[in-house]
Amino acid sequence: MAGSFPPLESLVPRHIQHIEPYIPSKPDDVLRQMFGCERIHRLNNNENALGPSPKAMEALAAIDLFQASVYPSGDAFHLRTKLADRFGLTPDSFIVGNGANEVIAFVIKAFCQEGDNIITADKTFAVYEWVAEFSGYEARLVPLGEDYGFDDDAMLAAIDARTKVLFLCSPNNPTGSYWSEAKLRRFLDRIDGRQIVVLDEAYCEFVEAADFPDGMKLLHEYPNLLVFRTFSKMFALAGLRIGFMAGAEKLIDVVRRTCVVYSVNSFAQQAAIGSLEDATEHIGRTRAMVRQAREFLGPELDKLGLFHLAGEANYMMIRLPMSDTLAYRKLMAQGLMVRSMTGFRFPNHIRVTLGELPVMEKLAEGLKNILPG
Ligand SMILES: Cc1ncc(COP(=O)(O)O)c(C=O)c1O
Repeated sequence: MAGSFPPLESLVPRHIQHIEPYIPSKPDDVLRQMFGCERIHRLNNNENALGPSPKAMEALAAIDLFQASVYPSGDAFHLRTKLADRFGLTPDSFIVGNGANEVIAFVIKAFCQEGDNIITADKTFAVYEWVAEFSGYEARLVPLGEDYGFDDDAMLAAIDARTKVLFLCSPNNPTGSYWSEAKLRRFLDRIDGRQIVVLDEAYCEFVEAADFPDGMKLLHEYPNLLVFRTFSKMFALAGLRIGFMAGAEKLIDVVRRTCVVYSVNSFAQQAAIGSLEDATEHIGRTRAMVRQAREFLGPELDKLGLFHLAGEANYMMIRLPMSDTLAYRKLMAQGLMVRSMTGFRFPNHIRVTLGELPVMEKLAEGLKNILPG
């Protein structure tokens, strides 16, 4: 007979006991019923409304479905070769993951041990902080500067002997601010190789500003730098879950020791290869859509007297004179799904994806409808 089961809490490490699980949004059919709307426009996850590029769609259509029975390439061999050609690096400078989310965990596992800490901003993509905390490491959160950008001096001041990794998000999700080349170089020079610096460029393909650095080029100069990219945003493959990390071969060799093999499926790998083939055209079309959305929505929000922050990526943050959870429900009832920002430490703010003009017009109308008289 089995022995008695100890109280569950006694098996759960202290740092896990206080963590609340993330609650993902429900599927569209469930939401349509809950909120009584016919159609939902998802403006909550910074997806690309144009969908995958034609070459990515072709690659998906050409997939031999029988291949579902065979394990994928465990190290995304062909995709890494393509990435190497595109970025002028070697295939061994890349690790492909099940979304950029997965590679965050690889890095933390590779470098942190008990008592170590990571540093990032207080108002940025939350997964760096979450992965550190549920792995049992301290996440030091440095407040953003007055310009809604990362405060480089304060981050440097927060470093101690147990700091292993600094996570920079550029453009920052959700504020859209970015690290200029001069600011980033100054920061990396002052770190001088003592810690690992992760530059998360999930939205870099949207940026048109001239002083935005290309993280991939900086890898030749900084052996402690890791750059994250994703196929979820510009390349519109979010449902397939694929992203990657690049760095000096020696650094990548260390991180590879913590990777879970076969986490990236064959179909995602094939679609990602396809999307690199017509990347230039797809990026051009998408940038034009995002620019048009930003140019339309900004003045509309001004007319409504709403503070907004757009930055360089495909989203905009908006401050509302009401709670963001209430605004979420009222907008959902009109078929508009936005991101409520209290969880990002921006109470009374929402973040919306910049997409096709007719949907942006609906959003402006929807916001007008929920504002007090
Ligand atoms: C800044 C940032 N990094 C990484 C990710 C994760 O992307 P992926 O879909 O590749 O896991 C996101 C997704 O929202 C993001 O905003």
